[in-house]
Amino acid sequence: MNLICPVCGGELMPEPKRYLCKKGHSFDRAKSGYVNLLQRQSRRQRGDDAEMAKARQVFLNAGYYQKLLDRICAITLNEKPAQIMDIGCGEGWYSCAVTAALRGNGCQTQLCGVDISPDILRFAAVRAKQQGIPDADWAVASVNHLPAAEKSCDCILNLFAPCEPQEFLRILKPDGLLLRVIPLEKHLWELKQAVYEKPYENKPVTDAPEGFVLASYESLHDTITVPAEHLKALFAMTPYVHKTSLRDIAKLDQIDSLTTTVSFGIMQCRPKK
Ligand SMILES: C[S@@+](CC[C@H](N)C(=O)[O-])C[C@H]1O[C@@H](n2cnc3c(N)ncnc32)[C@H](O)[C@@H]1O
Ligand SMILES: [Zn+2]
Repeated sequence: MNLICPVCGGELMPEPKRYLCKKGHSFDRAKSGYVNLLQRQSRRQRGDDAEMAKARQVFLNAGYYQKLLDRICAITLNEKPAQIMDIGCGEGWYSCAVTAALRGNGCQTQLCGVDISPDILRFAAVRAKQQGIPDADWAVASVNHLPAAEKSCDCILNLFAPCEPQEFLRILKPDGLLLRVIPLEKHLWELKQAVYEKPYENKPVTDAPEGFVLASYESLHDTITVPAEHLKALFAMTPYVHKTSLRDIAKLDQIDSLTTTVSFGIMQCRPKK
C-alpha cells in the first residue's frame, strides 16, 4: 500500500530522503524518517505533544499493557493482513509489535502509521527502525483525510484514537478488518479516584461504527500496579491530563504505588455488505 499524494491523489513513491508522486509533488522526510502530508489548512490540529508521546513511551515500554498487546497480536496473526494502517498510531508501540510478529510468522506485512502529531511520529519512526521495520511508512495526516487509495488496506488498527467511519470504509478492502480498542467504563478507575473528588466513568461504546458490522466484541480486564515513577506518565497519557488542575495532578506525588483497573473493549468490525 503506497501512500497517496495529498495534492493530486497519485501514488507516492518512497525515496531515501523524500516521497514523490508522478506529477512531481514532493514531500521531504524528516530526519527520523516520517513524512508530513498534512495540508496547510489542517496544520492547526496538533494532536498529542512530545511530552505526551514521551510519557506514553515510558509507560508502554514498561509492559503494563502487554496483555492487550498479546491479544491484538493474536487477532492480527489470525487475519494475516498484507497491509496495515494504524490510525492515530501514537508512537507505534502496538503496530510495530504486531508487524514484527506477523513477519516473524512468514507474512510480508507492510505497515503504515498515521497520526496528526509530528512530535509523536518521530518516536514511531525511531522505534520501527529499532524493531527491524525500517520500511514502515509514518505519515502526518488527519483521520478525516487518510493518505491511502480506495480499498487498499487489509487491516485498520484504531486504538484509543479518533474514528472516522466513512474514511475508514473508503480505504478498507471489502473483507478487511477494522480492529478498534476503546477504554471501558472502569478503565483507570482507581487512578481517577486518586485525582478527582467525583470521578466519572467512561461512556460505554458497544456498537460498530456506522457502515460496519460488529464481527466480534470482547472485553479485557486486568489490574496493574504502577509505582510512583510511572504514575505521572500514566496520567499524562490520558485525555484527562489537559482538563485537570495542577493541584489535582499533584495528589499523585503523595502516592508510592497505585493498583488500578484497566479495562478495554476490543471490537473486530467488517464493512457492511
Ligand atoms: C490516546 S492516543 C493513542 C495512540 C496509540 N494508538 C496508542 O494506543 O498508543 C491518540 C492518538 O490520536 C492522535 N490524533 C488525535 N487527533 C487525530 C486526528 N484528527 N487525526 C489523526 N490522529 C489524531 C493523537 O495525536 C494521539 O497520538
Ligand atoms: Zn501529486
